[in-house]
Amino acid sequence: MTQPYKITLLPGDGIGPEIMAVAVEVMQVVGKQLDLSFEFQEALLGGAAIEATGEPLPAATVETCKQSDAVLLAAIGDFKYDTLPRHLRPETGLLGIRAALGLFANLRPAKILPQLIDASSLKREVVEGVDIMVVRELTGGIYFGQPRGVFATESGEKRGVNTMAYAESEIDRIGRVAFEAARKRNKKLCSVDKANVLEVSQLWRDRITALSADYPDVELSHMYVDNAAMQLVRNPRQFDTIVTGNLFGDILSDEAAMLTGSIGMLPSASLGVANPGLFEPVHGSAPDIAGQDKANPLAQVLSAAMMLRYGLDQPIAADRIEQAVMKVLDQGDRTGDIMSEGMTMLGCKAMGKALVNALADVT
Ligand code: IPM
Ligand code: MG
Repeated sequence: MTQPYKITLLPGDGIGPEIMAVAVEVMQVVGKQLDLSFEFQEALLGGAAIEATGEPLPAATVETCKQSDAVLLAAIGDFKYDTLPRHLRPETGLLGIRAALGLFANLRPAKILPQLIDASSLKREVVEGVDIMVVRELTGGIYFGQPRGVFATESGEKRGVNTMAYAESEIDRIGRVAFEAARKRNKKLCSVDKANVLEVSQLWRDRITALSADYPDVELSHMYVDNAAMQLVRNPRQFDTIVTGNLFGDILSDEAAMLTGSIGMLPSASLGVANPGLFEPVHGSAPDIAGQDKANPLAQVLSAAMMLRYGLDQPIAADRIEQAVMKVLDQGDRTGDIMSEGMTMLGCKAMGKALVNALADVT
């Protein structure tokens, strides 16, 4: 048995703990099969942390994450925190852990699975074969820019301010991640900005264009964000890898995700340089179905696979998990969000069991 990998688990809120339990079980089974061992340590984030400590990102959580080999997050948030001051909201904890670990590169794949093609709200001929990787900048832009706040003006009226700012070095480092990602895929990179209006976007476009000299094998294009939103539903197959800033990436990655029929299927990876990567489903905490054994654990399980592949360099374990997910879908197992006629509807736990059974047959 190899040295155990230290994994920090952040189950968070809502359906988080239920889907995390499935991912942990799946990892343990794969670990046994491949002689890998994992040392799991749970830490608090989001609403769960607010309840226990009064703050959404306790310092102990940052420490635990930093000392691990990888971090697996489920989801955070609940409507009941929406009225708290911003620094006490679950979302602030999520943004805080991204910043504390320097996770500037967020990889969000949106790939249509043939088994789920009819779950998409778009026509089969539009979404068939869609395979997009959104590379979103995650620790800069308008999410973090200064000044920010709500300020009183001289007239007494309040004015809300946020600042979209990118330094050249921030653009370059996400640009390089995106060119490298495109290189491993179909060698097409589309950079999305709003350079027709925003100076920050003009700088973004200029830097990405300059970088492209180092990646002559990657075909670079640029698109304004409004057009990109439209093109994603008009002809999504034109995209391979997309690179964009924090806010545009937040929006476009949800849109790209929905092309696949359910946001409940999609994992993501957030990577930095000095610290472990963080892996999480693209979907949220779904507080409306929490604790009812209805959640789809597949995005969480696929996030664990992404963690094994990108965070721990264990591609064989990742392949096995992905194959098990394909197998349960092939045999017609579905949770409510991806249910269609003739399929078998399973709860979260039963889907976990189906995955464990499927893993036994995967080679
Ligand atoms: C995401 C989420 C977060 C974001 C929220 C929960 C702060 O929407 O991961 O896409 O805006 O980044
Ligand atoms: Mg989002």
